[in-house]
Amino acid sequence: MEIEQFRYGADNLAYLVFSGACGIAIDPGAVDDMLGFARHRNIRISQVTNTHLHPDHTCGNDRMLKKTHAGYLDCRNFSDNDTIALDNDRLTVITTPGHTHDDVCFAGNDFLVTGDTLFNATVGNCFSNDLDAFYHSLKKLMAFPGTTRVFAGHDYVKESVEIAQAIDPDTPGIVRYVNKYDPNRVFSCLADERRVNPFLRFNHKTMIDKLTQRHFPCDTEIQRFKSLMQAF
Ligand SMILES: [Fe+2]
Repeated sequence: MEIEQFRYGADNLAYLVFSGACGIAIDPGAVDDMLGFARHRNIRISQVTNTHLHPDHTCGNDRMLKKTHAGYLDCRNFSDNDTIALDNDRLTVITTPGHTHDDVCFAGNDFLVTGDTLFNATVGNCFSNDLDAFYHSLKKLMAFPGTTRVFAGHDYVKESVEIAQAIDPDTPGIVRYVNKYDPNRVFSCLADERRVNPFLRFNHKTMIDKLTQRHFPCDTEIQRFKSLMQAF
């Protein structure tokens, strides 16, 4: 199973996940680039879906569906651990409410498509106002192996790294993280996210000290996550 990333708009990222000659377009805003790539590689885009239904992620749906006659998979109809068949492979759906109530991520063999749930070096806004759900969603993603590549819905890397450094100038590994950044293929590995992403560092002493100093609740992991989301 392979994944190709396509930039569109100011900082949006679309994906084509494919196995053999069969592909699925996820948040397909870069319609022409995706069709060109698929044509060049003899991939038939048989399905179109989204990580969530914000318009910057669905804006390519109609044109992509019209051009490919693919089937549309509405992300609101997915259940956790549903699988999508791609030739001989399967892409797994992970329900990840938090950014919105209907967010999903997709797990391939060694990668995650994380939409606006988990970005490289930050997390999405909690528009659902359900931080409990957001925490449990992020924990599901964090349970994947450290080598898992994280492909997010936007390239927010530069500004997110600046924020991470402002929160903790001594964030371990952040210089190496910045040096790995390539705007032509934006991803990180999950082990680096656990180290660098301030909103996943809820068990790190520096972060707990910062929250305690500001009198945020810190007794349990979920409290610390919520406190990080409120404090920063
Ligand atoms: Fe969004």
